[in-house]
Amino acid sequence: MPSLAARLLLLHVWLLTSLLAMAMAAHRSTYIVHMDGSVMPKAFANHRHWYSATLQTLSTSTLAKQDGSEAPLKLVYAYENVMHGFSALLSSDELQALKQMPSFLSAHEERQATIDTTHTYEFLSLNTVTGLWPASNYGEDVIIGVIDSGVWPESESFNDRGMPVVLPTRWKGKCQPGEEFNTSLCNRKLIGAQYFNKGVIAANPGINISMNSARDRTGHGTHTASTAAGNYASADYFGYATGTARGIAPKARLAVYKVNWQEGSYESDLLAGMDQAIADGVDIISISLGFNGVELYEDPIAIGSFSAMEKGILVSTSAGNRGPDRSTLHNGIPWAVTVAAGTIDRKFSGTLTLGNGETIIGATLYPENALLVNVQLVYNQTISVCNSSSLLTSEAEGMIVVCEDTGSSETGTTWYQQYYVTESKAAGAIFISEQIPTFDYTCPGVVINSKQAVKVIKYAKNNPEATVTMKFRQTFVGTERAPAVAASSSRGPSQSFPGVLKPDIMAPGTNVLAAWIPTSASAIIGNTPLASDFNIIAGTSMACPHISGVAALLKGARPGWSPAAIRSAMMTTASSLDNTLKPIQDNGNFRDASPIAMGAGQVDPNKALEPGLVYDASQQDYVSLLCASGYTTKQVRMITRSKSFDCSKASSDLNYPSLIAIFEPNSTSYSKTFVRTVTNVGEGPASYKVKVTAPKWATVVVQPDVLVFKKDERLKYKVSLKARPQGETGTDAYGELVWVDEKGKYSVRSPLVVVLL
Ligand SMILES: *[C@@H]1O[C@H](CO)[C@@H](O)[C@H](O)[C@H]1NC(C)=O
Ligand SMILES: *[C@@H]1O[C@H](CO)[C@@H](O)[C@H](O)[C@H]1NC(C)=O
Ligand SMILES: *[C@@H]1O[C@H](CO)[C@@H](O)[C@H](O)[C@H]1NC(C)=O
Ligand SMILES: *[C@@H]1O[C@H](CO)[C@@H](O)[C@H](O)[C@H]1NC(C)=O
Ligand SMILES: *[C@@H]1O[C@H](CO)[C@@H](O)[C@H](O)[C@H]1NC(C)=O
Repeated sequence: MPSLAARLLLLHVWLLTSLLAMAMAAHRSTYIVHMDGSVMPKAFANHRHWYSATLQTLSTSTLAKQDGSEAPLKLVYAYENVMHGFSALLSSDELQALKQMPSFLSAHEERQATIDTTHTYEFLSLNTVTGLWPASNYGEDVIIGVIDSGVWPESESFNDRGMPVVLPTRWKGKCQPGEEFNTSLCNRKLIGAQYFNKGVIAANPGINISMNSARDRTGHGTHTASTAAGNYASADYFGYATGTARGIAPKARLAVYKVNWQEGSYESDLLAGMDQAIADGVDIISISLGFNGVELYEDPIAIGSFSAMEKGILVSTSAGNRGPDRSTLHNGIPWAVTVAAGTIDRKFSGTLTLGNGETIIGATLYPENALLVNVQLVYNQTISVCNSSSLLTSEAEGMIVVCEDTGSSETGTTWYQQYYVTESKAAGAIFISEQIPTFDYTCPGVVINSKQAVKVIKYAKNNPEATVTMKFRQTFVGTERAPAVAASSSRGPSQSFPGVLKPDIMAPGTNVLAAWIPTSASAIIGNTPLASDFNIIAGTSMACPHISGVAALLKGARPGWSPAAIRSAMMTTASSLDNTLKPIQDNGNFRDASPIAMGAGQVDPNKALEPGLVYDASQQDYVSLLCASGYTTKQVRMITRSKSFDCSKASSDLNYPSLIAIFEPNSTSYSKTFVRTVTNVGEGPASYKVKVTAPKWATVVVQPDVLVFKKDERLKYKVSLKARPQGETGTDAYGELVWVDEKGKYSVRSPLVVVLL
């Protein structure tokens, strides 16, 4: 197989294989089945027993046999915490029979998750002197549960130097032995490691699991876990980003739950992992994956995170990498945190020195010092689309070729161009593109923007003898305007629940350096895979564990705060400005970033420690929201699990730290009222005044506009928004609402979005 195709398929090949295996498997498939927990007959000792018996009844029914499936029905998993119910392999007839049972609530065929990493690229301002690190003692004894692809326990990032000997008493988890994994691999840092693959096996009968343990085979889980809570470790990536790596909460404990397998990432396994994490007593759950296009009541992360929220566990999730198009995000879950990805101020660079002495600094992660001194430079417009290896060989063998990102066709992008250059006999390439490249550099190459390119093209065109020298492995910090929203970060509004503004917040998701597994190539030169204990990659998968880490620090510093209060503190103190104090830019359209792209803005951990006011929300508030969602009683129960829930205060207006008003075309009314309750979490009495920036074609009135708090007091205010669109449709407008305390210490900011459908 040509290596081009092989590499392009690399990310998805296992997924396709497992789908194929699924399609060829028996006519049974795995269903996630919700049951009415309240009607369990007393004869059964527990739910598992009851569910098994229920399935046996189905097996012995004539239905199963007509169907040709003689094998008795067995549970894949019985769930204890995330939901009332189980997963099982069922044929359609068996499902029909199950549906007749009075205890049956609902069932759907399980789906596979989308893992939120694109390949390539890290940064935040925590320090040892002031703020959240010292206040939380670096997250000491907070437990982060990472639901991902497992862990490489030998990584330096998971050493337990400096970690307290005594484990938190609430910890009930374990270190589960398995292939190339024994209990002695866990330590005071990595306190738990468990794996869940009954779902993979059920869907792919007879499959050989490639690493049947919590050991990571992809690198993704190792990277996300070490980003959230890795210990201090000296690190670099082939000479880039050399220094001491550490997670956001370096003293937090880690428990990993492997649910992503090279053989597939199944809903039943994910639910089992979340179920166990909740039972084990974790404080924070980090999930860098999601299910696209699923209603909340069928979204395992929404279902699992509801029970987590009830137990005071904050769930941090990734928005997805399907940007910059609108309404592409997943995990739009009102009781979880949805994280967007931003760039950082560190640049991995290569220097180009033209034969005329001009120097240009571009972006690269080429993992080697290639000797490219005074090599002939070719600019030929006919081949600059760089989409043919043979043409590149015939026109530029042994030379450095200029490739222009056409952006228009798939094969005209830098991503594809570098493969064609790698396949050709060209010595290297200068890629012209406005996008921060996110891929492995398989050939010597440097990416420059079209402004920088003017000099290169002019020089090359006018000099048949043009030459260039390329130098790699240079790291510059603080040179870039940052953060900006990554183009690939998925955008709101959320399809699954448009009434709550998502994403919530942004964190670094490009150039993220963190631990990797030595058995999976973290770079490829030509056709040679290279190994490294660290890797620089990009995606909302990398942004999510930053927020999991910040949430862990906040939990350590403010143990009494609910998940909603922690989220509120992060959101209302987030920054909408970048390091040049200008509005954060959106790399998807090179305009000011909107809350649809970055939520409240870039997380500012030290400020989140002292938010002044918080927007709290209780389990009942979320129930009231679900009551007003238009879901059926059954659908609400799939999330809440409980038969009795109180809809007397049904309200689509959740006490959320952001505001979104969505209007249908030709609405009869363009008015919306929000009611918010804020809790004073400052040191004592305080007085706040509101400052509103109304969205274009809207007026916003806040009543009262001054709030005078006693210590710990909660006060309500009302926002009346009236939009006056002049025929606009399919557009958004943005504003903000900020409560500023009279002493000028706190500024509690909420983004305000009006969407005209
Ligand atoms: C556990 O595995 C490690 C690494 O494979 C090995 O060195 C060690 O001896 C094993 N310990 C036990 C108790 O098996
Ligand atoms: C699993 O491994 C065994 C032993 O190596 C082999 O005989 C069998 O064919 C494999 N099964 C599949 C489905 O690959
Ligand atoms: C540019 O490449 C085309 C296609 O191979 C070739 O025909 C043409 O001669 C080249 N132009 C120059 C100036 O070398
Ligand atoms: C390469 O690009 C040229 C010019 O855009 C186009 O005509 C041609 O079809 C492309 N070839 C391939 C294989 O995509
Ligand atoms: C809204 O009203 C305009 C003008 O009356 C009309 O052209 C348009 O079709 C209407 N749109 C919808 C979605 O009803």
